[in-house]
Amino acid sequence: MKNRQIEDPPTRWHVLDNPDAVAAQAARRILQAASRAITERGLFSIVLAGGRTPQAAYRLLVDAGTDWSCWEVYFGDERCLPADDAERNSLMAARALLDSVAVPAANIHPIPAEWGAEAAARDYEPVVRAALPFDLVLLGMGEDGHTASLFPGQQHPADQLVHAVHNAPKPPQDRVSLSAGALSDAREVLILVTGAGKQTAIQGWRGGEQLPIAAIGGSAQVDVLLDKAAQA
Ligand code: 6PG
Repeated sequence: MKNRQIEDPPTRWHVLDNPDAVAAQAARRILQAASRAITERGLFSIVLAGGRTPQAAYRLLVDAGTDWSCWEVYFGDERCLPADDAERNSLMAARALLDSVAVPAANIHPIPAEWGAEAAARDYEPVVRAALPFDLVLLGMGEDGHTASLFPGQQHPADQLVHAVHNAPKPPQDRVSLSAGALSDAREVLILVTGAGKQTAIQGWRGGEQLPIAAIGGSAQVDVLLDKAAQA
């Protein structure tokens, strides 16, 4: 796992009162990043996080004044389940945000994880390669310090941008994940962490433990929005 280099920007930690404050600040930062990217380059590429934590932020974006036609939406990981399974990260994002805003369907790039992990990873690799660097990567963190579907103790080929993941400790066992390198190849990375269950992993991460979440960053600016419960 790659350590951050001395010249890399330091991770910035923002402790907020509660999950609502995390969601509000996340939504604000996403819109600022979108506005910057659209002004400078005419499009905004964002990688969405799965799990529960980002949903509140996604919902806050529904009424935002942004040029949705300029958004290009990618996913950091996906669960190998049927495309219409309620546990799919793509379905969560559709229900919370994408079904309610005017991002053109062709600009939404789901991971075809219903094909199985290997086939989906192979298919998504060129999609990711063409998109790099992302403008903004959103991530969550699990209680064991995993992020996207990069789990502690699992090894993946260093040359892949997208990994097929098996035996994941969080169900389902089969998943697809962008690599730490691809998730770090971004102008900005925003990590959302809430709840007391995340305290131990936060302490480990801040204490220099080699957790998957700690491998994200490189030269990208990383901002972590966490609530007091996760920090305590
Ligand atoms: C997934 C994820 C995963 C998630 C973390 C945090 O598919 O489960 O992408 O990495 O972001 O496990 O999940 P919560 O936000 O639900 O705690």
